[in-house]
Amino acid sequence: MKLAVAGESAAGERRVAVVPEVAKRLAAAGWQLVVQSGAGTEAAFTDADYADAGAEIAPDVEACVAGAGVVVRVQAPSAEEAQRLPDGAVVLSFLQPPASLAALRVLAKKRCSAFSFDLLPRISRAQSMDALSSQATVSGYRAALTAATRIGRFFPMLMTAAGTVPPAKVLVMGAGVAGLQAIATSRRLGAVVRAYDVRAAAKEEAESLGASFVDLGVSAEGAGGYARELSAEELAQQQRALADEVARADAVITTAAVPGRRAPVLVTRAMVEAMAPGAVVVDMAADSGGNCECTEAGRDVVVSGTTVVGMANPPSGMPTHASALYARNVANLLGLMGAEGTFAPDWDDEIVKGTCVLRDGEPVHAPTAELLRGAT
Ligand code: NAI
Repeated sequence: MKLAVAGESAAGERRVAVVPEVAKRLAAAGWQLVVQSGAGTEAAFTDADYADAGAEIAPDVEACVAGAGVVVRVQAPSAEEAQRLPDGAVVLSFLQPPASLAALRVLAKKRCSAFSFDLLPRISRAQSMDALSSQATVSGYRAALTAATRIGRFFPMLMTAAGTVPPAKVLVMGAGVAGLQAIATSRRLGAVVRAYDVRAAAKEEAESLGASFVDLGVSAEGAGGYARELSAEELAQQQRALADEVARADAVITTAAVPGRRAPVLVTRAMVEAMAPGAVVVDMAADSGGNCECTEAGRDVVVSGTTVVGMANPPSGMPTHASALYARNVANLLGLMGAEGTFAPDWDDEIVKGTCVLRDGEPVHAPTAELLRGAT
């Protein structure tokens, strides 16, 4: 079966869905792999690398997807891109269904099937396919490095001939996959790290990486191991309790998210104004509205001497390794969906069912089905 690796068209997207190392593995598994020319350029992979790995190079997107049984991407196709796909093709990417309804409507009409990494169940068996986690790891790492390079201080304590420099104080809000990586990276650089989350399990995980945990006694465990949305009163209580923590920090890194919802506002403008001049807030949740009231996605905003960095599409900023990890997730999910380059999933498998948005054009993910009904 033909497996097409289309180039990404979204503004600022530098990742590619399959890297040469994984292309080799997929070709060996029996896929007829076709890569759009230049698809890997931004992630530092050349057409020649893909050709050496056994892929055919298509000159443009039309040739790439023509006759494809499966099309893999990082981001959802646009409605126009969906229109170009062969009838009945299978699309595998981050779809973020509420943001891709126009494309999904086109795919439904073409009797396509669509699977979305953002719906993957967070179960042990799915870990090797968990692109949310692999990309969050990149994001958390980049958030810590961004904080370290934006403040005018060292992260580590330094004893020098010119005297001792105290370590930077970093506060990480949201200790999920990205937050834990931000903690680990900040600690490796020598900062003193405090961490906060509303899930009880996060305390032990943050502490195991060397952070001290800010325990406010607010617990908000939701379904599937995720946090639930806090009530307005709980959120206000949380903001009050965190004000002193934020004011004391040299760098605040925010990663808090609730699936399918706008990111909770944890850091208000007043809290930013109370930070010492030269401090930094790195907001990893900028694309979903931001954890800081002052955040603007893709921009740095200076508020009373504190820089608020609104990280847009953080994993795309480190495209080589972000793509390498994503590509392994893709290959592992494809491996679950059929042997030797075929697409023949067990439709009762929890992972297949969990990620499937459209099956032969039928919306099978209930919230998406409802949105599509409303959108027509
Ligand atoms: P996420 O990206 O949905 O959210 C990031 C963090 O923000 C979470 O830790 C969440 O609790 C926190 N958060 C939400 N609202 C908050 C608030 N108001 N204040 C402070 N923090 C807030 O989460 P992520 O990283 O995708 O992880 C979700 C869960 O899935 C975690 O429990 C994680 O351990 C689990 N997981 C399980 C895997 C498995 O294979 N078993 C793999 C990956 C994650």
